Amino acid sequence: MILVTGGAGFIGANFVLDWLATTAEPVVNLDLLTYAGNLCNLHSLAGDARHVFVRGDIGDEAHVAALLREHRPRAIVNFAAESHVDRSIRGPAAFIDTNIVGTFKLLEAVRAWWTALPAAPRAAFRFVHVSTDEVYGSLAPTAPGFSETTAYAPNSPYSASKAASDHLVRAYHHTYGLPTLTTHCSNNYGPRQFPEKLIPLMIVNALAGRPLPVYGDGQNVRDWLYVGDHCSAIRVVMAGGCPGETYNIGGDAEMTNVDVVREICTILARTRPGPDYASLVTYVKDRPGHDRRYAIDAAKIRDQLHWSPEETFASGLERTIRWYLANDSWLESVATKDYRKWITLQYAKDVSVR
Ligand code: NAD
Ligand code: DAU
Repeated sequence: MILVTGGAGFIGANFVLDWLATTAEPVVNLDLLTYAGNLCNLHSLAGDARHVFVRGDIGDEAHVAALLREHRPRAIVNFAAESHVDRSIRGPAAFIDTNIVGTFKLLEAVRAWWTALPAAPRAAFRFVHVSTDEVYGSLAPTAPGFSETTAYAPNSPYSASKAASDHLVRAYHHTYGLPTLTTHCSNNYGPRQFPEKLIPLMIVNALAGRPLPVYGDGQNVRDWLYVGDHCSAIRVVMAGGCPGETYNIGGDAEMTNVDVVREICTILARTRPGPDYASLVTYVKDRPGHDRRYAIDAAKIRDQLHWSPEETFASGLERTIRWYLANDSWLESVATKDYRKWITLQYAKDVSVR
């Protein structure tokens, strides 16, 4: 079996669902269920003995050690993290605790257990660390995309904490020989993404007739990848990647933020005719330290592991919006008091939540 951490969050849950839809191999899913973790993401697995959910912290070394002894996974995929840049700007401490100290404790538990394995499972074991393209910093408008040799230059507390965790993972391979693989993916979107991130926030605000808050001039550029394509990339890295290596993953779909928001409005106008969604676009105060542009050179994973995305941005966005339109009860499950508090704090007068 494999152990997935953070498997109740957006990408982790999609990964677990896709995994169990494509293989028979069981999954132990360790997740702390922070504000971003949601068991509704996994409700379709109720009664499926191949999925074992465990509530817990990657930073609880004794708990992780006990899980490793009990389940003896052949691989670990580490998704668990604090993941939202804006929250890291308002309160970096949780990012240090989970992304840096938590990853360290997880590595320590794994190292102790893995060192004692017999030679064959020890050699076959894999630790996949899911990192981000944000560790490379920000690109000039016409600069080539980030490659695996681009120097680290993280600019937010979030990306700095992910960079620190990447360095620990790298060191555990170099020093102890732990068979680690690190992935750097661009912006994901798709079903089950918490509506604090750009695309789901715009969808839920538009449906509620609320303003669509675009930071700064709206010309920041991100490369977008459908979550299912990120999950397939992680599967190929786990199966065929070379221990100690890093792999960049991207969708070859660079867009300005305001173009993303306009595209959402266009699809909504067709699928849920209603108000003039585009008129809800509101330019608001910029994010401090806002990275201008991310782009990915995914040649390594494409050439060495023969991975490429299946969805285009247009097809993936349409699929995503249709999922949100069809999943009212999921939207209700995330519209908590805490969520409303976050929106009020972050957007103050720009976007009031009724
Ligand atoms: P998310 O915030 O939706 O989910 C994170 C999950 O981790 C939640 O279920 C949460 O409960 C859990 N968690 C948090 N702290 C934990 C802890 N201490 N122990 C156990 N579980 C804990 O995040 P996401 O968007 O699904 O991102 C998953 C991973 O992918 C993160 O490591 C993130 O840095 C990385 N990543 C995200 C994107 C993106 O666009 N969302 C792109 C590239 C990489
Ligand atoms: O690049 C990968 C990263 O993508 C991941 O590592 C992070 O976990 C993930 O959150 C994401 O980070 P971003 O900061 O790029 O994503 P976010 O959805 O928060 O913002 C995308 C862009 O949209 C960014 O330029 C900021 C802008 N934005 C965001 C929000 C929430 C707005 O203009 N308005 C908003 O309200």
